[in-house]
Order: sequence, then structure tokens, then C-alpha cells
Amino acid sequence: MSHPALLPFNLEATTLTNRLAVAPMTRVSAEEDGTPTAEMADYYARYAQGGFGIVITEGVYTDEAHSQGYLNQPGITTDRHAKAWDQISDAVRQAGAQPVMQLMHAGALSQGNRYCSSTAGPSAVRPLRAMMEAYGGSGPWPVPKALTAQDIEEVTTGFVNSALAAKAAGFAGVEVHAANGYLLDQFLTPYTNTRTDEFGGSVTNRVRLTASIISSIRSAIPDPEFWVGVRLSQGKVNDHDYRWEQGAEEAALIFASVSHATYLHIAGEGSGWEESALLDNGETITALARRVTQKPVIANGNLADADLAARVVTEGHADLISLGRTALANPDYPAKLARGSEPAVFDPAMLAPKVTLANAQTWSAQNAAAATA
Ligand SMILES: Cc1cc2nc3c(=O)[nH]c(=O)nc-3n(C[C@H](O)[C@H](O)[C@H](O)COP(=O)(O)O)c2cc1C
Repeated sequence: MSHPALLPFNLEATTLTNRLAVAPMTRVSAEEDGTPTAEMADYYARYAQGGFGIVITEGVYTDEAHSQGYLNQPGITTDRHAKAWDQISDAVRQAGAQPVMQLMHAGALSQGNRYCSSTAGPSAVRPLRAMMEAYGGSGPWPVPKALTAQDIEEVTTGFVNSALAAKAAGFAGVEVHAANGYLLDQFLTPYTNTRTDEFGGSVTNRVRLTASIISSIRSAIPDPEFWVGVRLSQGKVNDHDYRWEQGAEEAALIFASVSHATYLHIAGEGSGWEESALLDNGETITALARRVTQKPVIANGNLADADLAARVVTEGHADLISLGRTALANPDYPAKLARGSEPAVFDPAMLAPKVTLANAQTWSAQNAAAATA
């Protein structure tokens, strides 16, 4: 009998070959001007060839103001970017998977932006901890400028134009990155959002920008066959242990506010689903998201174990599962699961000293040489 994660799934009218998605993973390997490379096309196609039903791209920047988060991050703001993404979406589709572009605004957590040397966020609050060296940064985060009402409109326009460009470039949908401490999560989090306008204060106000970006994209692209997903998380890249202050009650309000998205993707940033999903009402965060929104939900966080993945799906905790580091070590994870063969264990050395594709290739060559020595 097939593993439950290998059964097809209908996302709107599209039948996915299975319930396994590649989680978005930044690789800081684009050209300096943000154009994705041919190596990136091969990299993404490999996951599709390995059997993943959905391939979600790394976070892609959405405007030429404050959205870029790292140098060599890909963007979707020029025709050159769009052309290169078109080739990537083609390569992924030809290998049988659905390509989704993650749209990301780094906000105060920008550590490399070729368009602008200052950062911007909901409020002028210095982010916790330090920049991430694996993504090319070092030292303390700067204090961001607080976005004005006009700036917020421009942020929204950036997301809408990027979604239109992703659609034209052949993507099946976009995923609005509202997780992991980046701009939209900065709005959601009281300690980085001290605003007193309609974007600050109550949960509904703090999630308003995410909700309205989803609506604005949907108004520009009314076709439900173009997916507009959203990614949320409690933990952040610079605060792994953060949890929504009001637990399940806050989670339910957040989820209800984004229930017009095509799907919800709950990131396990910094912790596994199994350790962190349980909320104070006894429900898992992903099951609560499903119940409140009645929309498909993607679970994430250390879900490589076949029994655990089966439980997540069959017990109704989530509809789909996304894999990050396991997919890096096993671009053919779905094929391995089908054969019943053990996946390779992810080795962090693969992403050292930076998370680039070039470093992963060096690591692979060294390991292949060691295996044959
Ligand atoms: C190298 C790397 C880059 C990542 N970049 C992103 C990103 O661009 N967008 C995002 O939402 N999450 C990003 N993440 C988080 C992953 O999508 C995922 O949530 C996390 O790795 C936990 O899942 P896992 O246990 O399957 O690896 C990244 C993770 C890694 C390891």
C-alpha cells in the first residue's frame, strides 16, 4: 500500500502527484542583479525529477526599495528576472511538479540590499540577535525606519506586481512569506510592531497587512487556479522560541484573517513539527489552521520520518508536508519513500560556510570522493 503522503491531492482543480512539497530555501546563488541562474534551474528541476508534487522556491524579493534580504537573493522585479524564472517553472513542470514562487519582503531583517542601504519595518525597533553569516551578513541589525502609510501601499504593490510576473512566468501560484521574522511577521509580532494605526495593536490589526496583500493579489488575479498561499510561523530566524502570546486563541484569529488564501503553510522555523505543533487547547497548530480555515494546510519541520509523516496526514493534522533540509540531502525523497529506502541524513556541512549552491556542490564532490576512496 502507498504511503499516505504519496497519494494524490487536489489543490483547487489541479491534481498534485503526491502530498510532498519542497520547503522554500534561500540559497543566495542568483546573479548580482537578482537574476536566477541556469544552475538554479537544474537545482529546482532535480526536486521535481525526484518526485516532489510541489516545488516552492526560495524567498524572492518583490520590489526595488526595502524588500531584498540578502545579496545574491533572486528577485522578480525586472524582465530579465522574469525570463529566467520562466525557464525554471518550465523545467519544474516538465518533470511533473507544480512550481510555486515564495514572495518575500525582508523588512528589518535585511542584511544585503543592492537598491538601498537602510532597512525598513513596522516600527523603529532594532531586531533581536545578529545578522546570519550563512546568508552573507555579520554584526548587529540596524534600526529600521518605520514604514509610512504610503510605503505600506508600495510594499503591497510590490507583492501584487510580483505575483502578476510569477503568473506570467508560468508559476502555478505564489506563497506570501509571512513567517520566520521577516516583514509581514514583524507586523504580526507585538515586540517589533508598536504602531498605533490600523496595522498595530490588536491581532486583527497586526495581521491586516498580510490579509490585505492576499486580497490585493487575488483582486489582480481572480482566477482561483492561480494559488495564493501564505506561510506563517511562531518561531523566527532571530527568535526560534517565540510563541504567539495568546496561544490557540491568537492562532485562530490569525488563521481566520487569512482564510481567503488558497492554502496555509505553517513553518517549523527552528523546531520540528512534533515538538512545537501542540497548542494550549490540545490541538496541533496545523489541525487548528485546517479547522478554522477549511483550507489545505502544509505542515513543516523535521518531518522526514515515514511513520511521523504518515501520522500527520492520516490523523488530519495537515493535508501536505513540506521538507527543507531532508530535501536538500534527498532531492529524490518521494522516490525513496515509494521504494521504502532510507533517506540520507542531512549534513549541515552542506550549507557551510554559506548556504550557496556552489558550497553544496563542493560538499557533494568531496563526499563522492570520500565514498570511492
Ligand atoms: C538553507 C535554508 C534556507 C531557508 N530559506 C527559507 C526561505 O527562503 N523562506 C522560508 O519561508 N523558509 C526558509 N527556510 C526554512 C525552511 O523552509 C523550513 O521551514 C525549515 O528548514 C524547517 O524544515 P525542515 O526541518 O524540513 O528543514 C530555510 C531553511 C534552510 C535550511
